[in-house]
Amino acid sequence: MSDMLRDAASKGYAVPCFNAINLDMVRGIIQAAEEECSPVIICHAEIHFKYTPLEKIAPILVAEMNAARVPVAVLLDHGKSFDAVLKAMQLGFNAVMFDGSEYGYEENVSKTAEIVKIAKTFDVSVEGELGYVTRPRGGGAEGEDEDSIVSDTSLYTDPEQACDFAERTGVDALAVAFGTVHGVYLKEPKLELDRLSRIRALTDVPLVMHGGSGLSRGDFEQSIQGGIAKVNYYTNMALKVAERLRVQWSGEASRIFYHDLMMASIHEFREDARQVMKMLGSSRRA
Ligand code: 13P
Repeated sequence: MSDMLRDAASKGYAVPCFNAINLDMVRGIIQAAEEECSPVIICHAEIHFKYTPLEKIAPILVAEMNAARVPVAVLLDHGKSFDAVLKAMQLGFNAVMFDGSEYGYEENVSKTAEIVKIAKTFDVSVEGELGYVTRPRGGGAEGEDEDSIVSDTSLYTDPEQACDFAERTGVDALAVAFGTVHGVYLKEPKLELDRLSRIRALTDVPLVMHGGSGLSRGDFEQSIQGGIAKVNYYTNMALKVAERLRVQWSGEASRIFYHDLMMASIHEFREDARQVMKMLGSSRRA
């Protein structure tokens, strides 16, 4: 992942990172990457273990990564516990995100630095998070926070701290908060691009945007210019594909076979992932 992101940062595009909770999603995403000739990161988030346990999906992700005709990285997304992070490394993930954003600054630094030390022995890339990318209540399947804190800029990443954090932890990528939110945007997103540029100016670690769903092509272009090299995206894909299948089958034949649903899902995941790759400029970069 580290090599992919360094290439993206130096050439002015971003690598898409999709959450995938089952084989249909993984197949759609890899097909999209192969058709677009795009590098891609596939991730599984600790918050999604309740749908698909890590041990069940890890062998699928690793096998698909190894068989793909384009560069693929497999990342643990928002690892909150040492247990999950260690398990992901042992199961063959080549990247992990340790999300220490809910801790105080010094605790986030020390825990992340410890993960980086362990990850080096596995040759695994590490993403950290500084600042807090929130999730509006009612805005996503796992809504947990109050709407009011979405625009609380005190949760955004402090540029000087980002520089200190990157140096002291040795992370390969840094997730930053500058106005994006996880889940569905309940208000028009307002990105603080100046803040992003200041972070970029003070640290050369590739920067990561979480909450990619619902942003415009212009938002992506400006964020990439501001230093974003990886974009995490899930909510739109999960909602759009389910909605398209609902419309496709409403009022249709009384019998719907699961295998038809499965093939249609893979097709829809692929088409959505392709659109994202085009917007991020990752097509033809593999
Ligand atoms: P969205 O679900 O808002 O697209 O964000 C995905 C994400 O950031 C996962 O880490």
